[in-house]
Amino acid sequence: MKVFIVKLIVVVALFTGINCKSYAQQKVDVKENEQKMQWFADAKLGIFIHWGIYAVQGTSESWAFHNKHILHKDYMQQIKGFTASKYNPEYWAELIKRTGARYCVITTKHHDGVALYDTKMNNLSIPARSPAKLDVLTPFYNALRKNNIKVGSYFSLIDWSYPDYPGFLKDSSRYDSKKDTIRWNKFLNFCHGQIKEITHQFNPDLIWFDGDWEHSAEEWRAPFIRKMILDNNPNTIINGRLQGYGDYDTPEQNFPVSRPNLKYWELCMTTNESWGYQPSDTIYKTPYEIITIFADAISMGGNLLLDIGPKEDGTIPAEQEYILNELGKWTSKHSEAIFNTVGGMPQGHFYGPSTLSKDSTTLYLFMQGKVNGNVMIKGLYDDIKEVTVVGSGKKLNHKIVGKISWSSVPGLVYIDVPQNVNDEYMTVIKVQLNKPIKLYKGKGGFN
Ligand code: GLC
Repeated sequence: MKVFIVKLIVVVALFTGINCKSYAQQKVDVKENEQKMQWFADAKLGIFIHWGIYAVQGTSESWAFHNKHILHKDYMQQIKGFTASKYNPEYWAELIKRTGARYCVITTKHHDGVALYDTKMNNLSIPARSPAKLDVLTPFYNALRKNNIKVGSYFSLIDWSYPDYPGFLKDSSRYDSKKDTIRWNKFLNFCHGQIKEITHQFNPDLIWFDGDWEHSAEEWRAPFIRKMILDNNPNTIINGRLQGYGDYDTPEQNFPVSRPNLKYWELCMTTNESWGYQPSDTIYKTPYEIITIFADAISMGGNLLLDIGPKEDGTIPAEQEYILNELGKWTSKHSEAIFNTVGGMPQGHFYGPSTLSKDSTTLYLFMQGKVNGNVMIKGLYDDIKEVTVVGSGKKLNHKIVGKISWSSVPGLVYIDVPQNVNDEYMTVIKVQLNKPIKLYKGKGGFN
């Protein structure tokens, strides 16, 4: 039996390790960071943009050549078709504003090495080599700032096109970075140079690294990168893909069931199944699915970074625009339950997502599906002043069930939700408490 259990543990450990990018242990002092992280914690929603030459043929971003679906030289030919001919950065910013998002992260360079801005570190960039001939980032960042949206720069540490980067195609590498340190340092110099360019030119509120998994913190010189960024602007937020030297966790596509380890976190997710524009990918999530996933993330104290992939000419696919607009309708109606709130009740008190006002006297309940009948809260000590529907302000009745007069254990709260108060996507109920929330954690019984 003992041997069996040991084997089982080993199998489970191996299984859960498979396909997981390993995240280094956190090296950042959370307490020190609290002030600079505040806007991020309040923001809840960000829009992610993957724009690059991969949109020309609709191949997968960078991975298409890395995984040998297309030759590197053919992949690179796409740069000749990147026109940005209908690019309207003001329109992008307005669309993002309409979603309610408070920040936006756009690719400055993906693993393919093609910079979207005018890099001086090499000449592989949209301004230098594409018919678009322009730095597409500056006008967009300006438009975002005009709309009061925080600015984020995605930057891939990996650069598979750079001749001195060890990695190139799947299952092969140009050299061993640990052995040929001169060559690795040449690459590092280039990589650090581009990070410096981005931080100095754009002064982003947030820098979103990707690809740290190919090398260790020591190899990337992660503490140096962090310092370089913070020396430029100590308020810059750094995402968690810097081998332990970032400020927040970034689960990707896979949905956390329990709260991620770091205090701050953000789920990044595509609207269909691709990061960049791929017309053959029609598996779009519905607005309902995106809204419920979003509610789930904020309920656990996280953010959602929702991705779109514009076409090479700068237009946004209609399906993506539809999702953003529907999401915007819902967030503007329910904004008080979303923005500037904190994560809600732990699981078990209410069967759905919830959030709390910062002073925790207002509880917001997010209803999954169409609710008609009673909704229940368990273990709530506080008295309820009023229950209303967010958006319409309609008052709802509630009653306390099973409160035993001689016991301090709270009764169950049943809220009567009639069908006609339902939102098109997700109804939110506001429960106004008489004081900050206090929850019963016991196992029932006498106290
Ligand atoms: C991944 C991929 C990449 C994508 C990113 C977004 O790690 O390498 O293609 O840009 O995630 O989170």
